[in-house]
Amino acid sequence: MLLFSVCLELDATKIGPAAEFVPSPIKANTLQLTDAVLANLTAQKVAGVSFFMFNTKPAANFECKVFPGDLDWPSKAIWSIFNLLTGNALIETVPIGAVCYQNSGFYSASACTDLLAGWTKSNTHVRDPTSVMSPMYQGETCHPARASPNSTCTLGGFPSYVVNVTNIAQVQLAVNFARVAKLRLVVKNTGHDFLGKSLGAGALSIWTHHLNEVQFLPKISTPSWTGAAFRIGAGVEGRHLFAAAERYNVTTVGGECGGVGVAGGYTAGGGHSPMSPLVGLGSDQALSLDVVLPSGRFVTANETHETDLFWALRGGGGNTFGVVTSMIVKAHPKIPVSGMTFSVLSGAETNVSITLFWEAMYAYWRRFPGFAEKRSYAYSTIFPAPGGGYSWSMLPWMVPGMPLAEFKSMVAPLLAEWEELGLKVTPYYFEYPSFYPVWKGHFPEETVANSDLRVGSRLFPKGNWANATRRDALFDSVRSVVEDGSALIQYNAKYDAPEGTIPSAANTHWRDAIWFTIIGVNWAGSGLPEVEVERLNKKFHQDWMGRLRPFGPGAYGNEADVMEPNFGEAFYGGNYERLVKIKKELDPTDLFWVPTGVGSEGWKVKGSREWLTTQEGRLCRV
Ligand SMILES: Cc1cc2nc3c(=O)[nH]c(=O)nc-3n(C[C@H](O)[C@H](O)[C@H](O)COP(=O)(O)OP(=O)(O)OC[C@H]3O[C@@H](n4cnc5c(N)ncnc54)[C@H](O)[C@@H]3O)c2cc1C
Ligand SMILES: *[C@@H]1O[C@H](CO)[C@@H](O)[C@H](O)[C@H]1NC(C)=O
Ligand SMILES: *[C@@H]1O[C@H](CO)[C@@H](O)[C@H](O)[C@H]1NC(C)=O
Ligand SMILES: *[C@@H]1O[C@H](CO)[C@@H](O)[C@H](O)[C@H]1NC(C)=O
Ligand SMILES: *[C@@H]1O[C@H](CO)[C@@H](O)[C@H](O)[C@H]1NC(C)=O
Ligand SMILES: *[C@@H]1O[C@H](CO)[C@@H](O)[C@H](O)[C@H]1NC(C)=O
Ligand SMILES: *[C@@H]1O[C@H](CO)[C@@H](O)[C@H](O)[C@H]1NC(C)=O
Ligand SMILES: *[C@@H]1O[C@H](CO)[C@@H](O)[C@H](O)[C@H]1NC(C)=O
Repeated sequence: MLLFSVCLELDATKIGPAAEFVPSPIKANTLQLTDAVLANLTAQKVAGVSFFMFNTKPAANFECKVFPGDLDWPSKAIWSIFNLLTGNALIETVPIGAVCYQNSGFYSASACTDLLAGWTKSNTHVRDPTSVMSPMYQGETCHPARASPNSTCTLGGFPSYVVNVTNIAQVQLAVNFARVAKLRLVVKNTGHDFLGKSLGAGALSIWTHHLNEVQFLPKISTPSWTGAAFRIGAGVEGRHLFAAAERYNVTTVGGECGGVGVAGGYTAGGGHSPMSPLVGLGSDQALSLDVVLPSGRFVTANETHETDLFWALRGGGGNTFGVVTSMIVKAHPKIPVSGMTFSVLSGAETNVSITLFWEAMYAYWRRFPGFAEKRSYAYSTIFPAPGGGYSWSMLPWMVPGMPLAEFKSMVAPLLAEWEELGLKVTPYYFEYPSFYPVWKGHFPEETVANSDLRVGSRLFPKGNWANATRRDALFDSVRSVVEDGSALIQYNAKYDAPEGTIPSAANTHWRDAIWFTIIGVNWAGSGLPEVEVERLNKKFHQDWMGRLRPFGPGAYGNEADVMEPNFGEAFYGGNYERLVKIKKELDPTDLFWVPTGVGSEGWKVKGSREWLTTQEGRLCRV
């Protein structure tokens, strides 16, 4: 292979995009890689074409994915041919931070200033081909804020090459190339992933951001759904779908951060939403998905075709069964929303003592089953505050479909109890005819791309409240982690599947949960020596998470600890066994691999600091 590649002479004028026109209502689907295209390339003796063929036969067992510098790493000439076949869609990775490094060849003082100013905004990373919002997994080897005159910017965990896809043929070419050349393959959509699943050293990446079509379908009919729907490309973000829904007087489901991709990791991982108490998880919305399989073949998975795949793609994880290129999601009637926001500051410099703060919090937590029953959604954050206290922000507490008067009477007993305890809160109430203005006004844009941050989560089932001793032990455990320095992001809501929902692979632990919590540890700027950082990480996985696990066997795999022991049970619940079976059938060579993905146990990223779980190393069999 090596000799062949080195001797290859490239006549760029002879090679054009490898794609055939196929009629389709979706623009991206009109260009596909077909057997006829490949036969044509073979007839024309296009060099290297064997790299791009369909093939479902497992390759011979190989120890590691091919890595840059290896003898069988594709030559520059092969990469050039690949680029021509994709219609010049190939990008050689330049780390987003390179503009801040003086010796990188990409230095620009003004671009660096702009990058630093926009660093914590999701769009900065969404529109970059490789940047991700959890920079820790990249190794922070080209972090714009850490550049000094002599420091060097390296690729770290970033992939080597990216295909900026706008059509199906390009996705198929990339999948075939990675499979035949035994490359690591990753998919990046927006880069929101918290576990390092949208990047990988030495990989070829498929970037779905520009698959961004949104089409309103006023009425469709499937065995389970008659009504409105949207057809959306894989790169569509929540904010695009929310805006379209408002325009057509309907309601759709997406993450609370507008930049989260709807058809990517969100639907693949389950996806929770402020609308979930009424209409279910993100994955409960999908009616049809277009997918490029590990074999390179393009299929539609829906209620009547590829039904195992259809089941698995809804909640069974991203970058595991293939590349989703577009999907059809439910559009519900317009739903009015009422709710409130408030904030409480406790500690020595305030009027709220820490004792009062926790009394008030327990009074709130005790009422969770009742609120969940009313299909309420309450999203709040607790952060450490000066004076040893805590800052608690109710971002919104809202109930889809409930009039404000009813909302006020729902919360009145809690407010009265707080008053009795001595806590005065000043709620700001709201009521709107649809979800869009609530989302625009009451879901503040989240800060992303924090350095050196690790998160973990837990889904606590309602059963914990049936026994007061157990319930209080749960509260004490969560409190103890916050007292030890963690932030707490908490959601009190119900995530069961509405009647008529098509069964899916969504984590079974969602369905009986009424409290979803996220905790985190951050050591950025701490100046701690590496051995202390390692100790802190161990404390997080074992001690902090260990205090919460006894009360909730499940966690949300999209917002979770990548070191979760027994992740199959925690992230996929009762669906794990069937998912593994489907994975083995569809992807016998493990072309698609992500940490904590279904069937990922057979491989690991080798590196010098494995406890940090970066994606900087080579991917090898365990
Ligand atoms: C600020 C912030 C807010 C969030 N809010 C919410 C929330 O409200 N609700 C919620 O449920 N989650 C939320 N999340 C978590 C979010 O759902 C996950 O990070 C999700 O995986 C993001 O999907 P993505 O496609 O946008 O991101 P990416 O990081 O690009 O991709 C995530 C994973 O999906 C894979 N993937 C992406 N696209 C495809 C595709 N087309 N085909 C196959 N695999 C694909 C990637 O390979 C990767 O493994 C939030 C995350 C952040 C950082
Ligand atoms: C095959 O090649 C011929 C000649 O270049 C071209 O006209 C035809 O469209 C090609 N067919 C496909 C399916 O690519
Ligand atoms: C950078 O390199 C120059 C020349 O080698 C050296 O004099 C200087 O001390 C270095 N600065 C830092 C911050 O390492
Ligand atoms: C990716 O492709 C889109 C659509 O062709 C194009 O507008 C965009 O500039 C490309 N991005 C990069 C970084 O090449
Ligand atoms: C499912 O997809 C197939 C293939 O595209 C299509 O023929 C069929 O009509 C679809 N079924 C439903 C219920 O939409
Ligand atoms: C949405 O509803 C408003 C008010 O009810 C109406 O004026 C508008 O025409 C509707 N828009 C669509 C696209 O149906
Ligand atoms: C504490 O309460 C007093 C009296 O009600 C008030 O004047 C003061 O502003 C409060 N301080 C804070 C920090 O809320
Ligand atoms: C309640 O929970 C506690 C602690 O988990 C347990 O010891 C006790 O047996 C439980 N009581 C009942 C009635 O189940």
